[in-house]
Amino acid sequence: MRVIICEDYDGLSKRGASIIAGLMERKPSSVLGLATGSTPIGTYGELVRMHREEDLDFSRVTTFNLDEYLGLPEEHSQSYHYFMEENLFKHINIPESSVNIPNGLASDMQRECEEYEWKIKGSGGIDLQLLGLGRDGHIGFNEPSSSLASRTRLKTLAPETIEDNARFFEKREDVPRFAITMGVGTIMEAREILLLASGERKAEALRATIEGPVSAEFTASILQLHPKVTIVADEEASELLKRRDYYKYVESKAEELAQGQS
Ligand code: GLP
Repeated sequence: MRVIICEDYDGLSKRGASIIAGLMERKPSSVLGLATGSTPIGTYGELVRMHREEDLDFSRVTTFNLDEYLGLPEEHSQSYHYFMEENLFKHINIPESSVNIPNGLASDMQRECEEYEWKIKGSGGIDLQLLGLGRDGHIGFNEPSSSLASRTRLKTLAPETIEDNARFFEKREDVPRFAITMGVGTIMEAREILLLASGERKAEALRATIEGPVSAEFTASILQLHPKVTIVADEEASELLKRRDYYKYVESKAEELAQGQS
């Protein structure tokens, strides 16, 4: 695991975007796994800026979003379809046909989930999966006790998640209770993973992710078993990490090495 600690949210967003843009430059037809939530908004903003000012090209990129609420129409202001459109897609040159988001209104959910898995496989698999982190350690909507081998399916949201997401809805009762999400096993098949964590609210979950035992209690902890994970956190989110100084030292050495080679 590579752990990069940035000073603040702005630094985290720029670092996250530069990792994604770097991949797109090496592979213009990248398959990107995308996430929602407040954390990646700055990263998307920076990618949009790079598209406008530096010609970052999305025309050959394919995307797969992690999850979607069950029962919200695409045009609902809290649907993840709407979120992605507003924060990224409408500002870049990605063809509509290259965007994939689970359909939370599908009449046959089992089939929707299976087809989502096939589409990911058919695209050649995800090159880089972007992740946020739930306060209860979830990735996508893989709540505590999710199978660590799970595939795309329906999940019942945990009370902490409903609580956390209530801030986006008028009333707590309006928060959907179910979601369709890529499974932990689906996420683990991505060739590279980039997890972003910001703010002290995430400090405990980040500690469990990086330094805790691998456990379905914190599904993000499975990332310890993935061969290529980068975690970009800000100072506040990283404040409970036991080896925080070591991670910073490793990064300073990585920069020294990179400068020596250039
Ligand atoms: C939701 C999403 C997750 C996201 C999490 C954290 O539960 N399904 O993908 O990581 O929220 O959101 P935030 O970044 O707003 O803290």
